[in-house]
Amino acid sequence: MDKYMIDGGRRLYGTVKIQSAKNSVLPLFAASILTDKPVTIRETPAITDALCMAQILRELGAEVRFHGNDVTIDSSNACSHEISSALTKELRSSVFMLGSLLTRFRRALIAYPGGCDIGLRPIDLHLNALKHLGVDITERDGYILCKCDRLRGAEILLDFPSVGATENIMLAAVMAEGRTVLQGAAKEPEIVDLQNFLNAMGAKIAGAGSDVIEIEGVKKLNGVSYKPVKDRIEAGTFLLACAACGGEMEVVGVKADNIGLLLHKLRENGCKIHIKNDKIRITSNGRLKCNRRIETMPFPGFPTDLQAQTTALNASCEGGALIVENLFETRFKYVPELQKMGADIEVKGRNAFVRGVPKLHGASLVAGDLRGGAALVIAALGAEGVSEVLDLSHIDRGYSDLQGKLKNLGAEIKRVRV
Ligand code: EPZ
Repeated sequence: MDKYMIDGGRRLYGTVKIQSAKNSVLPLFAASILTDKPVTIRETPAITDALCMAQILRELGAEVRFHGNDVTIDSSNACSHEISSALTKELRSSVFMLGSLLTRFRRALIAYPGGCDIGLRPIDLHLNALKHLGVDITERDGYILCKCDRLRGAEILLDFPSVGATENIMLAAVMAEGRTVLQGAAKEPEIVDLQNFLNAMGAKIAGAGSDVIEIEGVKKLNGVSYKPVKDRIEAGTFLLACAACGGEMEVVGVKADNIGLLLHKLRENGCKIHIKNDKIRITSNGRLKCNRRIETMPFPGFPTDLQAQTTALNASCEGGALIVENLFETRFKYVPELQKMGADIEVKGRNAFVRGVPKLHGASLVAGDLRGGAALVIAALGAEGVSEVLDLSHIDRGYSDLQGKLKNLGAEIKRVRV
């Protein structure tokens, strides 16, 4: 197991090129088995979730080749419709393989993904929607068996804009007979990216980015070479790190609209934000002010995936902040680690009450999940003294070369074997 050693208190200066979005690359991997022609996903980030997804596709019989950061997937010989419980447990979001497997094989067998460190994460919305498309679903001994003679287009209404359920419906309806109209769809930029990817393969999908997506089933899909959208959560994480440490940073590649509310909140903290095309420049000087209220909501609301990192920033701002986590039941598990650093935060259910302290101090910290781990890194970078952050396996799931990028910005951070 590795850990980070971080000597905090250094300001950050420089430019960081943002990786392709983890939460786009994963559904694109799933979509790649919808054709028996080769599919290339360019600039795939070096993250373990992508490696896990590659393993899942190999288990199905696909050939997955990495050449540099480009990945070519040839699923012409794919023949299995089963995903092992080990891989489903390792990568919960493999649940949107259901849609692809049903389109390709008319069958799918996956272990029930179950909850995780940030919440229960049920999949009822996924399963109800698949039933509307003509799928028979049997749940037994922790497994879900889905099968259908054919997939039929349907009118589907999601009573919550679930990202994964929206993606599963798109993957199951893209070659179904007839037309599917999905109301109440998630509007995240990664949904738009999946629509663009599928349309580049020959699909007929419109409306992604709004809450109504229309899908006209097509007979076949072709291969494609595609560059995914950039990772708005990685960009937000770096911007929040610069806010917490002070300094001046430019993040390159992300559309400002994709993190609009974060930029508004950073200005509320007292940071200067300058936007030019796909470059976002942040300047942070002196002690910032707390955000009065941060409430996580589906896109375009404040992203739940930046909640922990924002709390870490507010912990050493002036005043107080109320952080409300509306999407996941237990997404404050990182708070006790911040309290070890002197943070004054009280968690009550979905609310965290933050009272800013002048400075956090270094401590030995343990990451418990991906974004909570990123929050601990931000806190350690801005703190006085040395911190260690253990169990980097969580951070490695979604950030490629985090320590290298931070070091290039002037951070004193080392990755050491424990
Ligand atoms: C996606 O997860 C992201 N993961 C998550 O990012 C992100 O936090 C989440 O969307 C919300 O934006 C990927 O894209 C791989 P949801 P997903 O379905 O699809 C409830 C990260 O850190 N729900 O939109 O699982 C669910 O319990 C990860 O990169 C149901 O009740 O999120 C939650 O409360 C973490 N029934 C809410 O909806 C369902 O059938 C949001 O879930 C499905 C979801």
